[in-house]
Amino acid sequence: MNQHRKMVIAGNWKMNKTPNEAKQLVKKLIPLVSAATCEVVICVPYVDLHAALEESRGTGLKIGAQNCHYETSGAFTGEISAKMLAEMQVDYVIIGHSERRAYFGETDVTVNKRALACLKFGLNTIICVGETLSQRQAGITEEVLRMQTKLALADLTAGETDKLVIAYEPIWAIGTGLAATAEIANNACFMIRSAIKEIFDDQTANRISILYGGSMNKNNAAELLSQPDIDGGLIGGASLEPHDFAKIVEIAVG
Ligand code: 13P
Repeated sequence: MNQHRKMVIAGNWKMNKTPNEAKQLVKKLIPLVSAATCEVVICVPYVDLHAALEESRGTGLKIGAQNCHYETSGAFTGEISAKMLAEMQVDYVIIGHSERRAYFGETDVTVNKRALACLKFGLNTIICVGETLSQRQAGITEEVLRMQTKLALADLTAGETDKLVIAYEPIWAIGTGLAATAEIANNACFMIRSAIKEIFDDQTANRISILYGGSMNKNNAAELLSQPDIDGGLIGGASLEPHDFAKIVEIAVG
């Protein structure tokens, strides 16, 4: 963490919780995180957005979606646009999660298009990047992260990065209980920041928050979040349990 960047603790609920369950979970979470001085976000399924937004109105808790389409409107059955999310006053959106890339055919090109659309509509946009286990074992982690970062940020100007957040999520650490060590995670976040420096400039790269995601929990959060290039967490499993998530928030604000 660096004091010039905002600390973000974001939960990714993935495909969990119905609207009623979401309402209950948000209700439980709000008093637990109300004193937080960092950005606290939960990214919920589309159908839970309304309930989560209603329940969190007037509190500091920010609500996010887990994806969005790059076109504003049109014949794209089943898709949701950035304009729709913005009108609902959704604050955040996750783009390019590895599960979207692996199971739903998303590519670096569509991730870039989605990110540009989200930023155009003023959404805080969390772009996910991360290597597979075989890429790490082959020694090409840095190349993979640089390529994913550069392609995701193509056609973006430095001035448009105010609402940009990057999440480093090594695929081998997601949902496995095997988080990256603090050293591995920090080195990867540093590589991503270096790639951002090459695209834009030092000042821009030093302003963008880079989160770590992959089996972060209340036991490993302190070490991960104390690293100089890690500015927060993107948390899956542990974000479904309000006390665990709130504990990570507490650790983040120190
Ligand atoms: P887990 O915290 O369950 O490993 O999930 C991480 C993740 O994919 C967040 O987007």
